Amino acid sequence: MMVDYIPITREVWALTSEGQDLARNGSHEAVFFNLVPTGSEGIALEDLKTAAGASAAVGQRNAMKNKWIRLENGQVFRQVDAIVDETQKALQEIDRTASHPNANVLKDLKKRKLCDKQKITSYKIVKGPKFATTITKQSTDLTSDMLQRQVSSNGEWKTADFKPYNFNAIGLAPPGGHLHPLMKVREEFRRIFFEMGFEEMPTNKFVESSFWNFDALFQPQQHPARDAHDTFFIKDPATSDRLPADLMAKVKKTHEDGGDTGSTGYRYEWKVEEAEKLLLRTHTTAVSSYMLYKLAQEPEFRPAKYFSIDRVFRNESVDATHLAEFHQLEGVIADRNLTLGDLIGFMDIFFKKMGIEKIRFKPAYNPYTEPSMEIFSWHEGLKKWVEIGNSGMFRPEMLGPLGLPSDVRVIAWGLGLERPTMIKYGISNIRDLLGHKVNLSMVEEYPICRMDKKMGKELVGITP
Ligand code: PHE
Repeated sequence: MMVDYIPITREVWALTSEGQDLARNGSHEAVFFNLVPTGSEGIALEDLKTAAGASAAVGQRNAMKNKWIRLENGQVFRQVDAIVDETQKALQEIDRTASHPNANVLKDLKKRKLCDKQKITSYKIVKGPKFATTITKQSTDLTSDMLQRQVSSNGEWKTADFKPYNFNAIGLAPPGGHLHPLMKVREEFRRIFFEMGFEEMPTNKFVESSFWNFDALFQPQQHPARDAHDTFFIKDPATSDRLPADLMAKVKKTHEDGGDTGSTGYRYEWKVEEAEKLLLRTHTTAVSSYMLYKLAQEPEFRPAKYFSIDRVFRNESVDATHLAEFHQLEGVIADRNLTLGDLIGFMDIFFKKMGIEKIRFKPAYNPYTEPSMEIFSWHEGLKKWVEIGNSGMFRPEMLGPLGLPSDVRVIAWGLGLERPTMIKYGISNIRDLLGHKVNLSMVEEYPICRMDKKMGKELVGITP
């Protein structure tokens, strides 16, 4: 402590506002006495009281007690020629000296609420044990430097002024892992799916065969999407030898002439060599087709709701809104006699849960769905409908070979994860979200994601 202080309290007497009044104008009894005329005629008590006003009651009592006046048949007469107003004198003394030598006088005037005792505290400032004319910074740590450096004959550590520990201080937040913003948004979508009773599909392999990615989805082998310009094919190993032969035979037949699906097929020669080619999956619908095949293997059909949110890869040029890999959210519902109305109704509920209130559908084309619908959402900011996803009912040409009962219908939809994430976190360049230019501290700083209404309105579209 550089300075110390000693509190000094003293008691003083001070007049109340009535006391101040009486100190100036005389006590009630003096006022009362002075209104009584000199000589023998006296004054009627009632008239005197009226004249004394506020001083009447106390004034009469004290003037009587002091034997200054006498009362005879309602008339008041002076008993003495002159008086000394001791009360006024005492009050003036208190006002001047803040006290009075006679304790009884003080007690009496306090009782009459003309003065009161007050406590006044003042401080005497003195030099403290660490008095100095300059401020030195206290040390917070004992450093090796301090131990080595010599100040006179002592090490600095001996003389240093250490700051006392503050055990009530809030410590540093312990460093921990943080989810990438994309994974935060993914968690929120997963929560919605789980809430709605969906099972998560195993999407933990990025390499797929062309068979599950394209053929099983009734995508013809000459389809432009299968071109190396759109798809990353794997060089080593280049092919898969784990494809189910029975299903392959059925898929081949469906592609060639429709098999027993009632379709005419694509009328070309389907080649196993094309189906065996390994690639980086271009959509998670590759996993959906595999999962539906698995579902069809179960002894008895059961309605199923599946979802996944994982990476897909497309061989396209990278720009501010496109990367060669992105995340796709996929939902699949399989049940008997589902209709397009179920798909539309379900989309409504699903997007509302994401905070998107207004959606619209537009007919579209996918090789594996019929009908197919692009999903649009009203964008408040842009004042227009923007595409947010793609959906449809899987075709009989796809479901037939998988072996699901003929009355089972499958509705499915897909959307990108990057766009909603970028909007949510105000990122305009996808390369600030993913890749080597990402600012690592943003991963730590960005808050947990909530699918609030604001986000829904700003959600502008599906990734490529
Ligand atoms: N696979 C589609 C895409 O990549 C999305 C989709 C999934 C469409 C399921 C219809 C049904 O855009």
